[in-house]
Amino acid sequence: MRRKLIVGNWKMNGNRVANAALLAAIQSGLDQAACDVAVCVPAPYLAQCQAALADGPIAWGAQDLSAQESGAYTGEVAAAMLSDFACAFVIIGHSERRAYHAESDELVAQKTRRALSAGLTPIVCVGETLAERESGQTSAIVGRQVDAVLAAIDASDLDKLVIAYEPVWAIGTGKTATPQMAQDVHALVRARLAEKSVDAAAKVRILYGGSMKPDNARQLLAMPDIDGGLIGGAALKATDFLAIIQSA
Ligand code: G3P
Repeated sequence: MRRKLIVGNWKMNGNRVANAALLAAIQSGLDQAACDVAVCVPAPYLAQCQAALADGPIAWGAQDLSAQESGAYTGEVAAAMLSDFACAFVIIGHSERRAYHAESDELVAQKTRRALSAGLTPIVCVGETLAERESGQTSAIVGRQVDAVLAAIDASDLDKLVIAYEPVWAIGTGKTATPQMAQDVHALVRARLAEKSVDAAAKVRILYGGSMKPDNARQLLAMPDIDGGLIGGAALKATDFLAIIQSA
C-alpha cells in the first residue's frame, strides 16, 4: 500500500517572519500524521526550513532545479546545492514553469534525471489546460508528458519518482477536478508507468494538485490512485494544510 504524501508548494510566497510562524504552526499542529508531509519553498528559504524542520517529521524541498550539473548558468540552482540544504524533494515541470519559462517535456525529463542523480525525489508535474481538456486531448497531453520522463530514466529509477497530476484549469481557480475525473487521469498515468515496470508503477505515488482544500481533500484522497496532494494556496494557511493532512 502506498503511504500518502501531502506536499505544500509555497510558490513565490512568504518572508522570513511569516515562514517561521507558518512552519511553527504546522509543526505544533501535526499530530502523529498518518502520511508523509513536505513543504517546497523558494530557494532563499531552504536554510530556514532546514533549521526549523531538521530532526522532525516534515521534509522540505525546492520548486525547481537546473538541468545542468554546475557552471556558467546565471540564476540557476544546481541539484547539489539543494542537497547541501538536505532537500528531500524538488518540484519539476510545474505548469507555471512550463508556461512562463517555456519548459519543454525534454527539459523536464533532463531535470528529472539531474534530480535523481543527486539523490533528490523529483515531483514531476503533468496536466492539461482547459482548452486541451475541452478538445478531448487530456490523455494525449498527460501521456506525452509522462512518456518524455520515462524515456529519459532507467527502469530502476522509476520507483524513486513522484508524479503530480495538476489540471492547469484547477490551479488557483477553486475549480477542483471531481474525484472521478482525477482518478481517471491518475489511472492513466499509472498505466503509462506500468508499461516500463509494473512493480515500480505500483509503488510510485501520484499526487493530485489543483485547488485541493480541506472540504474536498478526503473525497479526492479516497480514490485508489490518488496517493496524496500537491497543495498551493491551502499550504499557506496552517489550519488548512493540517486539515488536508488529517484527511490523508
Ligand atoms: O503545485 C500545487 C499548485 O499548483 C496547486 O495550487 O492553489 O490550486 O492548490 P492550488
